[in-house]
Amino acid sequence: MSQHQHSHIASEPSHQPPAQGKWIAKFFGHMHNTEVWASHLPRIPGYISALAIVGVILVIASFTGPWAGSSPFKFISLLVGFLLALPALVMGGFALRKWKYAQQLRKEILDSIQWRGDENVLDIGCGSGLLLNGAAMRLTNGKATGIDIWADHSGGGNFALLMKNAQAEGVADKIHFKEADARKMPFEDSSFDIVVSSGALHHITRSLEDHDKLTREIARVLKPGGQIAMWDISHMVEATSLKLKSFGVKTEVKRTPSYLGFDMSMLTGRKTGKA
Ligand SMILES: C[S@@+](CC[C@H](N)C(=O)[O-])C[C@H]1O[C@@H](n2cnc3c(N)ncnc32)[C@H](O)[C@@H]1O
Repeated sequence: MSQHQHSHIASEPSHQPPAQGKWIAKFFGHMHNTEVWASHLPRIPGYISALAIVGVILVIASFTGPWAGSSPFKFISLLVGFLLALPALVMGGFALRKWKYAQQLRKEILDSIQWRGDENVLDIGCGSGLLLNGAAMRLTNGKATGIDIWADHSGGGNFALLMKNAQAEGVADKIHFKEADARKMPFEDSSFDIVVSSGALHHITRSLEDHDKLTREIARVLKPGGQIAMWDISHMVEATSLKLKSFGVKTEVKRTPSYLGFDMSMLTGRKTGKA
């Protein structure tokens, strides 16, 4: 039987670039709809890379090709080549920056946990698998499960991308996935030794009621003595920390470097009681 339990592969996110927006809004809308935005591994669409290759060839040809001596042709070839390569440069630059940030963040979040290797780990809103894959790498005979609902406007992830990244990071046969809402998790009480999450709290919590449901669920599925590490926008993390305390999870919050202009924080903690 497949290790990856998912009730069905989610349909493609339905968000579209703005119909009459400025070209820059359309470009960033496009980035959001591709793996550039959604993936923690650096990825750019194949056709953008192909255009960039043609662009580089044109730039080289403007100096060495038969039209190198003719200034109008040289200029046109240089300009067209540069314009063809530009989307790959912008997307590639963004993807590499995000990858570098994500690597450091994953290390910081997972290093905050005391690992044995045999834990049952849950990643809430696992997206493209940043923490899920990282947790799987730290386990020997434990189990790493990710849940997600592939919400629209929530990062653009999907099951295929999750598995592609798991393959690329060598953990495809170690991770488990369940399509499930974090506000009502399909797990028994005290199921997990470790609960982690990155960037998902503010997507899951659209109201105070959502926040209450989410934090109750986290406290419920965590075993007594179980550990927690979550990263998100600072005010969200502060609010989650307070709520979790009221449900018997001792928490601490610390600031992390800002991301895309937002103040970010990490919450760590342990549920009271003996493991
Ligand atoms: C910004 S992404 C973060 C993905 C990943 N953790 C990362 O750090 O790259 C937020 C994720 O939360 C998921 N999400 C939103 N609402 C959810 C809910 N109610 N239950 C489970 N996942 C949810 C979204 O589908 C999305 O994949």
